[in-house]
Amino acid sequence: MGKETYRPHFHFSAEKNWINDPNGLYYLDGEYHLFYQHHPESEMWGPMHWGHAISQDLLHWEHRPIALFPDEQGMIFSGSAVVDDKNTSGLQEDGFPTIIALFTHHNEGHETQSLAYSNDKGRTWTKYPHNPVIENPGLKDFRDPKVFRYENQWIMSLACGDHIRFYKSENLLNWAYLSSFGQDYGAHGGVWECPDLVRFQTEEGEKWVLIVSINPGGPNGGSAIQYFTGEFDGEVFHCDQPKEYVKWADFGRDFYAAVTWSNLPQPLWIGWMNNWQYANEGPTHPFRGSMSIPRKLSLENVEGEAILVQKPVSVELLVERIDSHLVHIGAVETVSHILPKQSRVIAEFKKTAIPFDLSIKGEGEEIKIVFDPSVGTFSLDRTNLKDAQFSEHFMSIDTMPVKHLKNLEMIIDECSVEIFVNQGAKVMTELFYMSGDEFELEWRAKSKELQLEYTVQKLKANYQKLCSE
Ligand code: FRU
Repeated sequence: MGKETYRPHFHFSAEKNWINDPNGLYYLDGEYHLFYQHHPESEMWGPMHWGHAISQDLLHWEHRPIALFPDEQGMIFSGSAVVDDKNTSGLQEDGFPTIIALFTHHNEGHETQSLAYSNDKGRTWTKYPHNPVIENPGLKDFRDPKVFRYENQWIMSLACGDHIRFYKSENLLNWAYLSSFGQDYGAHGGVWECPDLVRFQTEEGEKWVLIVSINPGGPNGGSAIQYFTGEFDGEVFHCDQPKEYVKWADFGRDFYAAVTWSNLPQPLWIGWMNNWQYANEGPTHPFRGSMSIPRKLSLENVEGEAILVQKPVSVELLVERIDSHLVHIGAVETVSHILPKQSRVIAEFKKTAIPFDLSIKGEGEEIKIVFDPSVGTFSLDRTNLKDAQFSEHFMSIDTMPVKHLKNLEMIIDECSVEIFVNQGAKVMTELFYMSGDEFELEWRAKSKELQLEYTVQKLKANYQKLCSE
């Protein structure tokens, strides 16, 4: 094998070739299963399969054989999986609970929902002989089924172009239409995809969040994820936010199609770290595309608003060395330190509205973060990278609204940075391609003195490989 260009060290990527959305996420007996949209023959999108990997710590993934291949009913598009431990489907043979995957068959533009099952804890899969389980009612976009258990039935969310449809079933095989949501709500700059309706326990009681990917039409262009808060009564989703209001889960350009694991007590999700505007053209080899760090989700009251809060998981397993700095940077002065390429930076700010620049610098290239409380923005500029020219869309300065900055956490791997602001209440995920094993992390105060306490954690390199040796 030749040199692996920009291979992530602890984010999931396929051994070879193309990936996009995470699919069929479920947890069972200490194993997190991750299936994913995969083209095993090429670094570009093509006939979709479901690739498969298993992890016990959400960081090291064991590659498994391809789970689902395209067939005469079409390619295998995105979908979900549930553990049918009560054998509602009647498909269990003996021993293990049946795992049921629901996915979209995509056949020259015609989309239907189909089922596959596993009776050996996800090792081998059989397609249901009576597929499809939901016929297409005449819609161009009709895909990405996400199923969960609600009281004594199963509920499916399905993306239908400009709205989400809900279906119910007692046995996962026969489905009845319930209701639709969204035509007149939220952002509509592109097609709606990969929905997920998630139940949260909050201080005010139970709340529901409907997650919807949209492409294009994101806050900084291209693919992004919006969400709606409200109630679900078993048939209808009642949104409690104004119709034109939009909540974004991540303001970066590279967090898409994220959905939650089933069969876990707390919501946990993972997204595809890419953007359809340039996903087919990235400079990586022999793989293309990777997943985000898995993130715990909670719904919290932030300044009077119900906000989806994200926290990266398992990262402490990777920490190799910790350097802490308490710094006072005088107006227009800079302070810098070495930043290992695989690293986590945690910063606490003494005052929450002091402007600054933060650069991650390599040899003649950099990404630059700018916090400007006077206009309430936090932005990331990745136009000064040597390897950014593969797509004009990739050369971007991306912005998220932040008025007060109490703290930030950055998780950096070979070609990505995930930034969690104010304990994960605002998030920005961005790919960046920069050579070198170390960078310089430079803080620059602007008009006022900047006081902060920050820690650089060196994270283990080659974590994926070390674990499989
Ligand atoms: C989202 C998506 C899904 C579809 C899949 C095809 O990125 O477009 O709607 O099922 O990718 O690979």
